Amino acid sequence: MCGIIGYIGKGEAFPVLVSGLNKLEYRGYDSAGIAVNVDADADADANEDELNLQKYVGKLSEIKFEAVDGSIGIAHTRWASHGKVTKENAHPHLDCRNEIAVVHNGIIENYKELKERLIDKGHSFRSETDSETIAHLIEDFVSDGFSFDDAFVNALRMLEGCYTVLAVRKGENRIAGARKGSRSLCIGLSEGTEGPGLFPSSDVLAFLEWADKVIYLKSGDVFFADTDLNLKIYNLIEDRIVERPIDTVKCDAEEVKKGEYEHFMLKEISEQDETLLRALQQDKNTVTEICEEMRRAVGTFFIGCGSSYHACLAGSYLFSEIAKVHVNTALASEFENYEDFLTENTLVLAISQSGETADVLDAVNAAKRKGSRVVGMVNRDGSILTRDCDQLLMMNSGPEFCVLSTKTYTSQVVLMAMLAYAYAGRCEEGLEKIRSLYLDIYNLTSRTVREHVHELAEMLYKRKNIYLIGRGLQYTTALEAALKIKEVSYIHAEAFAGGELKHGSLALIEDGTPCIVFVSSNNRSKILSNAEEVKSRGGYIIGVSSEREEVFDFWVKVPDAGELNPIIQIIPMQVLAYELALLRGLDPDKPRNLAKCVTIT
Ligand code: G6P
Repeated sequence: MCGIIGYIGKGEAFPVLVSGLNKLEYRGYDSAGIAVNVDADADADANEDELNLQKYVGKLSEIKFEAVDGSIGIAHTRWASHGKVTKENAHPHLDCRNEIAVVHNGIIENYKELKERLIDKGHSFRSETDSETIAHLIEDFVSDGFSFDDAFVNALRMLEGCYTVLAVRKGENRIAGARKGSRSLCIGLSEGTEGPGLFPSSDVLAFLEWADKVIYLKSGDVFFADTDLNLKIYNLIEDRIVERPIDTVKCDAEEVKKGEYEHFMLKEISEQDETLLRALQQDKNTVTEICEEMRRAVGTFFIGCGSSYHACLAGSYLFSEIAKVHVNTALASEFENYEDFLTENTLVLAISQSGETADVLDAVNAAKRKGSRVVGMVNRDGSILTRDCDQLLMMNSGPEFCVLSTKTYTSQVVLMAMLAYAYAGRCEEGLEKIRSLYLDIYNLTSRTVREHVHELAEMLYKRKNIYLIGRGLQYTTALEAALKIKEVSYIHAEAFAGGELKHGSLALIEDGTPCIVFVSSNNRSKILSNAEEVKSRGGYIIGVSSEREEVFDFWVKVPDAGELNPIIQIIPMQVLAYELALLRGLDPDKPRNLAKCVTIT
């Protein structure tokens, strides 16, 4: 789980690499490094060609790279999977002679065996990573007389697993790169006068400010680029040179800035009035076709991970309530347990903000192997899922940088509601209802609400446990709110279906235990009696509802939106999670142990 950016062209690599790493930090942030090819002919200070390598442990904001001249470079931000967080394990990795540098995202499944073989041949390794193996493999082929390009391809042929990889070699006017399986790689193209160049990266966000054109590479693609912007793409699986289309980058450089906000999390929470409307910008025919597919299907699954899974769950309740139809939900990471039931008549709706979560991509591939139809609901344009499914609904939320999803979660629920209304033949009415939430959302992200929620956070930030309860659709909100609180404040937060408390978890309630209760008009009396059960055991009741109720000790006022409550009630909870993180002195944008896009299973 890492971010990769490279540059080759007529300009300077260093500023591109540093700025690109900052944009990619959301993918992982425990260490980072760069390697720049210093060309003695171009750099008066250099006596000979050199490979300048700099690696550091820590967040990018704390790392100071030393500026270096050179028009070819690669860089990497790491989130440890193989090997501890150390400078040695940070990328780029070098071969024995310090001539070849490699950055890699993915997992080399057969690296132990390859490493042993290389050690037997005399190679010495410096890190515990699987990635270093690639540098030594290339070196091995180069020593056998192969050109850098051929050595790179030969090395790739020996790797099992999935990867995005970039490699450079001292004195060589080249970057080589490749992608296989669930790892993404695209190449930005800039013709600008300041430094026309090619920008291979895991994500367009890394080169937005430099390039406005992009090529998305397919699995098995290998590329070679030089400073004259010659680009050759070869597909390992098809064993031939291939052409890939050049797309226009669809992302606004302004969207990747924090602007007036202190953190991306708050910015993204505040954008939800707009992103609600943007999610509704869908092609009517696509929506109708998806509903048709659902009608034809013998069994529909909604699958996702983390917050996206909670949106699946909300979706299943919405379909029951609005469209009166049953859908199955499954965690993408558990989906293999359902694979036996997949047929050509099954429909799988895969939800993923990033479109690159490995568990989701694996589940989608399994469904495709069984001949099932796959619909994707994705936010990141150009991500793998956007290309791997039969039908696509884009969330249109704009880039989300905070590791926690906020605006993309509400967009997912909006799309679920929209589909359910369309399925029920109430499309226009549904759109109108959803659109009318705009002002409520705007108000819920206002300063007044934030101050009120801050008061609540003051009361809660030293607590060890927070419990949350809801029934029906409100249960899915409780789950999502608990996840937000855990992810960003590290307070243990656990959600229960209101009716389940009495079946065991009520034992957890002590004097003063905080319990957040999500109330909806359609199950008001039942959930309030669950709240009473907690209160009578000493619990401190925080109500999220449109009316103040007697049982509440603290009230967060939200309008009652009926079946659309999940879009509304989660917003003050996102704010609460944010405020809790601040009060606990934590960085809300970069919670520990997490990454925005989890590309390992
Ligand atoms: C990671 C993130 C979660 C996110 C989940 C699913 O675990 O930390 O915040 O909900 O992935 O991500 P996706 O991109 O597939 O929606």
